[in-house]
Amino acid sequence: MRPFLVVYATRGGYTRQIAERIADRIRTLAHEVQIQDARTEALPPLERYSAVILAASVHLGHHEREMVKFVRARRRELDRLPTIFLSVSLTEAAAADVHRPDDVRLDAQHATRKMLDDFVLETGWRPGRAVPVASALTDSIYGPVIRTLMRKLLRLDLPDEPAREVVFTDWTALNRVVDGLVREGVERSGTLPPEPSQPPAFRTAVEGAVLAP
Ligand SMILES: Cc1cc2nc3c(=O)[nH]c(=O)nc-3n(C[C@H](O)[C@H](O)[C@H](O)COP(=O)(O)O)c2cc1C
Repeated sequence: MRPFLVVYATRGGYTRQIAERIADRIRTLAHEVQIQDARTEALPPLERYSAVILAASVHLGHHEREMVKFVRARRRELDRLPTIFLSVSLTEAAAADVHRPDDVRLDAQHATRKMLDDFVLETGWRPGRAVPVASALTDSIYGPVIRTLMRKLLRLDLPDEPAREVVFTDWTALNRVVDGLVREGVERSGTLPPEPSQPPAFRTAVEGAVLAP
């Protein structure tokens, strides 16, 4: 069976952590997976994969530029595969928080929906499934100033311990999303002709790209 592909775009590194957790989950399900920064262009044709998961964080209301660029360049290939797009933001932490007033949650849900709609408009690509994912507040990534700003902007209720990391990501829900895509990829692979063989020189180039830091 063809491997799965996880492509991520990150500023602070948290979305890479999400991509790594997803890759671990796929390996646990006994499938091969390749994980790739969207900035790296050394990817073979996407038909080589069973399915693709893309994950990009949001800054100032927009997904990372390199993910927009990647999707624009690979849109037609993505259209032929099972895909999921994960939109990683702190707004989703507010949208998913059942302890918040309904109007605050609704505003946050509209905001995450708008960011996803904008991504579709910007790229011209509609993913098989688009899922907002709540991220985390970590001092190691942002430092205390931006952390305080985020708390105010997004009206997040946090404990008064500035150094404490607060993770909002629902890993169980994310696993369910990944499992669904893996099932789709497996079903699809049963209907595909055998994987096209590659000339040895090309295979070496691809392996080199995967091993690069
Ligand atoms: C300067 C800055 C701007 C941000 N803007 C937004 C925003 O507009 N909406 C939002 O929901 N989250 C926003 N965030 C939160 C990030 O989306 C969130 O922390 C995410 O985990 C960052 O992922 P990354 O570490 O992979 O880049 C912002 C964070 C920073 C540091």
